[in-house]
Amino acid sequence: MHVQPLVIANWKMNGSRELVNAMSSALGNQSALTEQVQVVICPPATLLPALAEQASTAGIACGAQTASAHAGGAHTGELSLSLLQEFGVSYVLVGHSERRQHYGETDADVAAKTKAIIAAGCTAVVCVGETAQQREQEQTKAVIGEQLAAALADLPDNAATKLVVAYEPVWAIGTGLTASPEQAQDVHAFIRENLKKLIKTDADLIPLLYGGSVKSDNAASLFAEQDIDGGLIGGASLVADDFIAICSAA
Ligand code: G3P
Repeated sequence: MHVQPLVIANWKMNGSRELVNAMSSALGNQSALTEQVQVVICPPATLLPALAEQASTAGIACGAQTASAHAGGAHTGELSLSLLQEFGVSYVLVGHSERRQHYGETDADVAAKTKAIIAAGCTAVVCVGETAQQREQEQTKAVIGEQLAAALADLPDNAATKLVVAYEPVWAIGTGLTASPEQAQDVHAFIRENLKKLIKTDADLIPLLYGGSVKSDNAASLFAEQDIDGGLIGGASLVADDFIAICSAA
């Protein structure tokens, strides 16, 4: 563990006001935990106002699942960083494989968004990961190396304090298949080495998260690995007890 543990809930297109209330009150009762572990919830954007009202009492931070790289203007359906920041957003996911696969987000888009997120003063959570086929063909590190180099090109020297990298093998997302702790650590160590080349200052301080079917029963073994600083959690972040158990494992 290099840094303060960090656990981020990615609710994807799930959740409700009721879940915001339930999760905020459950986490609000865990102040000893939320003092040690930085907990972030990324709900659908329409739930951000409700989350923002309760986030500080709950001891958590608000995150967005995506953001536009544009500051404003004719971008129907998009949300700028300043709009998101009005609702307390301080973390933004970028380059999630679902956005790359289904919404055409390219490496160039990921780079532009990462730059914009950091320039706005938010933390960019850059997601990288290989498909099953790429792993079978032993291209995992080549793919991740390329995704990182593209996403992190041209960042300011002090970017490390506003950057998180999440390794999410595409084959492990929502499938119940998890990378073994050894497989995840191997890629995380590779990411750590790469970050030292890409980010001039304090690359060691960048939290590295693992995501992909993290559950309450496998979180501890993953988080015990040296270069895994926490997790990016999908399905299991929709149930308060499960999510709290995962945060406790960090
Ligand atoms: O961003 C979180 C993610 O894609 C993992 O989802 O449901 O496998 O935990 P899940």
